[in-house]
Amino acid sequence: MAFLDKHKAIETHATLLLVLSFLVVTIGGLVQIVPLFYLENTIEQVEGVRPYTPLELAGRDIYIREGCYVCHSQMIRPMRDEVERYGHYSLAAESMYDHPFQWGSKRTGPDLARVGGRYSDSWHVDHLTDPQSVVPESVMPKYGFIANNVIDGKYIADIMGTHRLVGVPYSDEQIAEAQADFAAQADPNADTAGLLARYGDKVTVSNFDGTPELTEMDAIIAYLQVLGTMVDFSTFTPDPTR
Ligand code: HEC
Repeated sequence: MAFLDKHKAIETHATLLLVLSFLVVTIGGLVQIVPLFYLENTIEQVEGVRPYTPLELAGRDIYIREGCYVCHSQMIRPMRDEVERYGHYSLAAESMYDHPFQWGSKRTGPDLARVGGRYSDSWHVDHLTDPQSVVPESVMPKYGFIANNVIDGKYIADIMGTHRLVGVPYSDEQIAEAQADFAAQADPNADTAGLLARYGDKVTVSNFDGTPELTEMDAIIAYLQVLGTMVDFSTFTPDPTR
């Protein structure tokens, strides 16, 4: 082949080889790097996705602290067996406010991306306290001790500030009212107008653990109950251009 003969000219000419190599690496680099500048475009705009409320965010921190992600994924893949078992496959937008994301890599237990609303709050209390009491063959550890840890949301405004630093659009008002919103979500008798105005009226207000104290149990159940419920899939239509 004729052009292969010319290759000898390149291989025996250091400067030419250098210049051409540089050219090839540049083109290859651009092809890889330029799309990253448009990464924002890969997350579709989806209605309903909002930042976590202070209580949900605290619950999420407990989820991470306790290593729930070691056994549970939060990522439903678009395969038929998964979609039939867990519901609509996960959208990128659904974890856009998760820092760090909780997609996980191991499923000793089921995927939790859409566990929100699947069980009652009291089922979660029973299950977290003693998983074998509701699922006898379960290998999930007992987490009853979190019901004894009373929390007051003292640091939640700081945590929200940190999330804002990495791109979660918490407003000044949401951060200023964080501790009040934190308590209001777990108290059905509280004035929740502010909380609902700030986070939307789909926010679940409940005495999650059924006890008067505000505990880590309340927070983690508030978190579990919101998972996968923000997007209304009865009206959601995927963008065919993606
Ligand atoms: C050692 C592995 C392991 C760890 C750690 C673990 N789980 Fe589980 N989890 C399981 C298994 C197995 C099941 C299925 C049986 C059952 O329901 O108990 C399960 C089930 C669940 C379910 C019910 C899901 C469904 O769709 O039925 C929830 C909710 C849950 N776990 C939450 C948690 C939370 C929250 C934590 C952390 C505090 C946690 N798990 C930690 C193994 C684990």
